[in-house]
Amino acid sequence: SKQAIIAPSVLAADFANLQRDIEMINTSQADWFHIDIMDGVFVPNISFGMPVLEAINKHAKKTIDVHLMIVDPDRYIKTFKALGSDILTVHYEACTHLHRTLQAIKAEGMKAGVALNPHTNVSLLEDVINDIDLVCLMSVNPGFGGQSFIENTYKKIRQLKEIITRNGASTLIEIDGGVTDKNAKQLTEAGADVLVAGSFVFRAEDPIATIADLKKITTL
Ligand code: DX5
Ligand code: ZN
Repeated sequence: SKQAIIAPSVLAADFANLQRDIEMINTSQADWFHIDIMDGVFVPNISFGMPVLEAINKHAKKTIDVHLMIVDPDRYIKTFKALGSDILTVHYEACTHLHRTLQAIKAEGMKAGVALNPHTNVSLLEDVINDIDLVCLMSVNPGFGGQSFIENTYKKIRQLKEIITRNGASTLIEIDGGVTDKNAKQLTEAGADVLVAGSFVFRAEDPIATIADLKKITTL
């Protein structure tokens, strides 16, 4: 049976109790830590940067999935490797030489991801799909947690799955933004492999039970 990989987004954690929230994820059935890095240029918000990721990495005992919402990400590939990133995702819209960027990420020993904004068609990845370990489909406009899910994402998952299958690629499909217990099953059924969840997990009364619930409802 298949079960979604659950990646809580640390953006929604309580930064004054960050170690507590990291230990919560360690203890839970969550699979990955999703780390949102925003530069205030590519997206209209600034999240947190290197010193905070360094602190997270000291305590995190699971895969660290870094989502760079920054312009010219090539400048920081080596830095994010040094900070403990296992998967490094760059935005399609921020990379003029995407193929080169993917090779540079993999040369550092990380998995390479590409994120697409809601308006960016998945067909643009056709010629590079075999070089991508993970495609992050943004199901909200990047920049903020707590926004509502864009329904067009289901269609994009199905179209992307078809491209992956046709090219014999093993690329994972990650969904980022507005994931809840209301859409998690349908997303997994459509072909999603990884679900990022920020506010739904951290605003819950019992985050550990909420993560367990997401694992359970995404078991196909
Ligand atoms: C949005 C970030 C998301 C965000 C998800 O720019 O990339 O990872 O933290 O938060 P929720 O689950 O609250 O939509
Ligand atoms: Zn993200």
